[in-house]
Amino acid sequence: MMTSGQKFAVVALLAGFGGVSAVSSTACSQQEDLGPGVKPAATDPLAGTEEELKAQAKELFNQLKPELVKNCGQGCHNSGVAFKSAPLFLAPPDEYTSIKAGNGMVTDDATASPLLNKGEHEGPALASFADLATKVFTWLRFEAAAKDKKILPSSAYTAIVIGPNEIDMSPAGIAGVKVRFEAAMPSGILSITKLRVFVPDLGAKKGAHMARPLFYRLRKDNKLYVDPVDTFSYVDTVFPGGVETPLPPGSAIFAVPDSWTPFQASEKIRIQVDKFEIGDVVDPPKLPSCKNAAMFNTVLMPSLTGAGVGAGINCSGCHNTGRGLNPIVVQADANATCINFTGFVNKTTPGQSRMILKAADGATTHAGGKVTDTNGFTTTWTGAITGGQIFE
Ligand code: HEC
Repeated sequence: MMTSGQKFAVVALLAGFGGVSAVSSTACSQQEDLGPGVKPAATDPLAGTEEELKAQAKELFNQLKPELVKNCGQGCHNSGVAFKSAPLFLAPPDEYTSIKAGNGMVTDDATASPLLNKGEHEGPALASFADLATKVFTWLRFEAAAKDKKILPSSAYTAIVIGPNEIDMSPAGIAGVKVRFEAAMPSGILSITKLRVFVPDLGAKKGAHMARPLFYRLRKDNKLYVDPVDTFSYVDTVFPGGVETPLPPGSAIFAVPDSWTPFQASEKIRIQVDKFEIGDVVDPPKLPSCKNAAMFNTVLMPSLTGAGVGAGINCSGCHNTGRGLNPIVVQADANATCINFTGFVNKTTPGQSRMILKAADGATTHAGGKVTDTNGFTTTWTGAITGGQIFE
């Protein structure tokens, strides 16, 4: 039984390829041969039929096969000579037929495949070959897509120039969305930087929800290659409308020999996405703040340190950083103290503020006791809260 806990840690694996810029630098990669003379259509040449998806999946397998057989064959999963009980999912002569022959290796959910989830056994875990594991995962995703007949949205092919570029994502489903970046091709290696997504105004709080943009290169001979390390696999974000937003990790280098290099200006790229739809922009959580720390310092701070209307008890003697007892008074930092007390004031009914009840209301218990001038303390604090100039 495969539980979700056993699922392949895709994110962790891909994170190993580097946070700032991902580098694809392996000898093998995925390709699809469109065949001689087959001109890709202006938009979405491969997003045609189930047959095309299947062909693409098979080609991806053929590309990784030598490496997979080398690491998992070994007289185990190809012949069973070394271990009789080993499942023969790489049996020759047609390894592709073997691996798809109902032995449970190709799963509807790519992350659930035993290929990715089998830990170290008599043989090694695939995860110990991070690069191969990523390619296996990309292939399994294509198999799942082919089975589902899931044709993913994509941009059209766009010729890449040295300098600023723009890939129009309108064909993928939202008009006017552009993926922008700077391209350079030192030594025939395509390197893109300053990646960002422009989304036109889509209405209040609306944006473009984009997940897993995957780069394809169409070589001059009409062979199609996929970014084998799925550089942007973890992107799943609503990009707000009306602005340009950076696309993490911001840059990528496509250094895979043969399939991605040498790359020349005017060669074409397309970007396919797992998801592309209008979505709601989620505001980042508002950081707590204080409207007027200087006024807090003058009007209220003394009452927290045993002075003025706070005479009788010194809040900061107990409610301090050292004891970590909320609300914390930081005498040297009025802004921090103001923020700390904001959660203990009630703007709707100032007299019911928890900090007033604790320090000055006889009916409320408080291990720290009450100030001497309960009326004065209450009046000072309710006045400051009602005034509305100090607390956010
Ligand atoms: C002698 C130590 C001591 C002093 C001095 C003291 N407190 Fe407290 N305070 C406590 C303790 C202990 C608690 C937690 C138990 C309780 O609620 O009685 C507490 C709880 C509170 C709470 C509730 C915290 C919560 O998480 O709900 C507030 C508000 C409060 N105090 C405000 C004040 C103010 C304002 C002052 C100064 C005017 C003050 N305290 C002085 C010890 C003290």
